[in-house]
Amino acid sequence: MMLKKALLWAQKVLTGKVERPRLEAEILLAHLLNCRREELILKEIEDIDFNSLKALIERRCEQEPIEYITNRVSFYDFELFIDKGALIPRPESEILVDKALELIKKHNIRKVAEIGVGSGALSIAIARHSKVDIEASDISQDAIKIAQKNINSFKLQDRIKIHKCNMAECFGNFDLLISNPPYIDPNFKLEKNVAAFEPHTALFAPNKGLAILFEILKLIKAKNIKYAACEMGYDQKEAISQKAKELNLPGKLEFYKDLAGLDRGFVYIYE
Ligand SMILES: C[S@@+](CC[C@H](N)C(=O)[O-])C[C@H]1O[C@@H](n2cnc3c(N)ncnc32)[C@H](O)[C@@H]1O
Repeated sequence: MMLKKALLWAQKVLTGKVERPRLEAEILLAHLLNCRREELILKEIEDIDFNSLKALIERRCEQEPIEYITNRVSFYDFELFIDKGALIPRPESEILVDKALELIKKHNIRKVAEIGVGSGALSIAIARHSKVDIEASDISQDAIKIAQKNINSFKLQDRIKIHKCNMAECFGNFDLLISNPPYIDPNFKLEKNVAAFEPHTALFAPNKGLAILFEILKLIKAKNIKYAACEMGYDQKEAISQKAKELNLPGKLEFYKDLAGLDRGFVYIYE
């Protein structure tokens, strides 16, 4: 089938199934032809392997995220490899990167630790925009494999070291702790494209999604951590403030919002 015809076919099948059928048809065809979307125009009369295209379109019609189908995701100012073993990094986590970079610059921070590295998105963004060394943990071997592949492809293996371990158990000394931990209430009904395809260890945490966030607060106290930046759920500010008070955290906890105006994370500073 010629590309021009294949594009119309793919667009038609995706209509009603995804929000932007033309754009997604183009992305999937470009993925199939291993070219950039803008180059499709030059290949209009090229022959397409229809069965391969059909397989991709069927996966998308089943609501599989396009990032898992193409194995590519944009984050901050770069593109990453992504696959089902790791959470697809979200645009709101770019704010967490900005918060971390602000702290690094302002307080001359040299060593960073990340709990829950996932695809490596946050650590890679921070390493690319600063001079820090990073230690990162994850409990998922699949996520670690993906993160390591990304770290290697950006040649950051000397600056970002990944450990398979729980929370911060494997870290040496560090100045700043960052994390985008699992924070969704296991009873929350997520959309199919998230619930059916993304790893549940990356999404859900017990105690209404608060369990790991509370562990992080305890860690801040126990290790006397000076700087931390952490993402959280839009409805968790109250519970986190309360827990910080209960633990008698000595530093200042400041919450930040995402671009939709929802509470999305906190920065902790103890000087
Ligand atoms: C929400 S994802 C964040 C991934 C990545 N940092 C990002 O922002 O895209 C949370 C990550 O934490 C990991 N994780 C869950 N429990 C953990 C634990 N107890 N210790 C370390 N990592 C954990 C998950 O496997 C997952 O990769």
